[in-house]
Amino acid sequence: MRTHYCGDVTAANIGETVELTGWVHRRRDHGGVIFLDVRDRAGIVQVVYDPDTPASFAVADRVRNEYVLAIKGRVRPRPAGTVNPSMKTGAIEVLGSSLTVLNESATPPIQVDEYSDAGEEVRLRYRFLDLRRPEMLQRLQLRAQAASHTRRFLESEGYWEVETPTLTKTTPEGARDYLVPSRTQPSQFYALPQSPQLFKQLLMMSSVDKYFQLARCYRDEDLRADRQPEFTQIDIEASFVAEREVMDLAERLLKSLFKETINVELPDFPVLTHADALVRFGTDAPDLRNPLELVDIADLVQEVAFKVFSAPANDANGRVVALKGPGAASKLSRRELDDYVSFVGRYGAKGLAYIKVNDRAAGTNGLQSPILKFLEPAVLAAVLDRVGASSGDIVFFGADDAKVVNDAMGAFRNELGRVLNVVEDRWAPLWVTEFPMFEQHARAGPGTATDVSALAPAHHPFTQPACSAAELLANPRTAKARAYDFVLNGTEVGGGSIRINDPVMQEAVFEALGLRQEGQVKFGFLLDALRMGCPPHGGIAIGFDRLMMFLAGTDNIRDVIAFPKTQTAACLMTSAPSVVDEHQLRELHIRLR
Ligand code: AMO
Ligand code: AMP
Repeated sequence: MRTHYCGDVTAANIGETVELTGWVHRRRDHGGVIFLDVRDRAGIVQVVYDPDTPASFAVADRVRNEYVLAIKGRVRPRPAGTVNPSMKTGAIEVLGSSLTVLNESATPPIQVDEYSDAGEEVRLRYRFLDLRRPEMLQRLQLRAQAASHTRRFLESEGYWEVETPTLTKTTPEGARDYLVPSRTQPSQFYALPQSPQLFKQLLMMSSVDKYFQLARCYRDEDLRADRQPEFTQIDIEASFVAEREVMDLAERLLKSLFKETINVELPDFPVLTHADALVRFGTDAPDLRNPLELVDIADLVQEVAFKVFSAPANDANGRVVALKGPGAASKLSRRELDDYVSFVGRYGAKGLAYIKVNDRAAGTNGLQSPILKFLEPAVLAAVLDRVGASSGDIVFFGADDAKVVNDAMGAFRNELGRVLNVVEDRWAPLWVTEFPMFEQHARAGPGTATDVSALAPAHHPFTQPACSAAELLANPRTAKARAYDFVLNGTEVGGGSIRINDPVMQEAVFEALGLRQEGQVKFGFLLDALRMGCPPHGGIAIGFDRLMMFLAGTDNIRDVIAFPKTQTAACLMTSAPSVVDEHQLRELHIRLR
């Protein structure tokens, strides 16, 4: 039907007769001459109809936006003064000789021909139109390129792409399962996989040795800007490897993806332990573009009369930190300082003490703060020395349980870096290693009281501890995992680990989680496989959608997914989820409550 894509016709085609197909992007009637901007996935070309071809001219006269056309015409240079250097096809136009309307279009609810200010609801409802917009198509194309590059890269490294089932059993990754009722086995349910974790481990036990998959995962959890209920992972697993080999492979893949798709050279990824990340940044996913760091001062304030500081300073679970805002004194108003108290309050902090350093040389007289009266001059001087405060700075303080301080001051560090404009314009990838095996988890079951002492896996329960099974059971709370996360600009983008390959260790982990019985029932097949020649193995999963957000330069995960869901996990276009008819439910042995 066509000889070229609209967007590919250039000065090299001048003099040629071309056949094009596409959508009417814009129609302009210049008294006697009609200009049609015709669009396809490659771009836009200008087509001109004049009354010398009366039949086509009459058709051109009645077309409207988004009509689908077939065009024949001759490529010619645009008249002097009308060249558009910002368009790929801006040097030429097509003088149309014939014009066929392949299909008409109702007036679209979204303007495809200009920056869309349509609300996201309309865009999602008419996603097929929204995707016609060049910026959306470019994102789809970028995603296709990234997927294709990933496959080529991993294949060249000897990895096989293997598909794993999506009608399966639960894979615990910390979210709720999506369940699918079985028709043939009444009262039985499949779970959609939260990840291919168990299958990829079983493939290692099958001697596949190197596996990958662009895997669809399903998690029923609270949605946020960087989460979708179904999403894609670049899922990788290899046998006979240790941490460094998996991390090196992922690092090379990520570097080559950034280079190939957006021509960015990522720097080498530094490695930070989980403990160091919390100490310095209050989070296990630090944004290293922000140079501000938390500084512990508990040892300096253990003796002070100010209980807000001295109580956590003397408590093993407490933490007292200072955070210096360089030059903040002239940049933050009294009102902003007050607002930050409610900012940290959202993370559980009871306040945000601060000291304004007006004149560092003037001792206590050069300082301004609601807490000056509580702190001796020697303590003040030691604190200011430790953070390296100078005139014009404000030093902020967080004092509480370590978790509250980390959450609140970690978030405040991001905010302060942003308002002080100190966040560097660069890419900041890193590895975070030596995670704890477990975290404390408030777990409430139906009809049971909340069990605040329950442990939950920090990653998943198949992660290899860095200690023996006996040590793990003796000290589960301090046990470390052979796990690693990939963090980019303050977002967790990937995570993986070396796996348990010994049934005794696997049972020990189930036991520490209080799942001895349940583990046997749910994961008996895994325990069997671990008993029958399981190689040491490990891997990683990189969140492909999150990665695409970075490659496409957007902070909305829905921008990089063709047909995404809303915050309430609904598809506005198809109206999924939806009611089903009684007949279908009956076949599935389901009665609604
Ligand atoms: P994890 O649960 O850390 O690890 O997931 C890996 C990566 O998947 C992405 N991700 C998501 N992306 C979009 N929406 C979501 N709801 C969502 N949830 C997770 C994140 C995350 O870093 N089986 C292990 C990996 C392994 O151990 O090899 C796993 O799934 O970018
Ligand atoms: P208060 O004695 O409660 O009036 O607090 C005195 C100052 O300490 C105020 O500036 C509070 O914002 C601050 N503050 C109170 N609790 C904390 C805390 N847990 N961490 C840091 N600052 C706090």
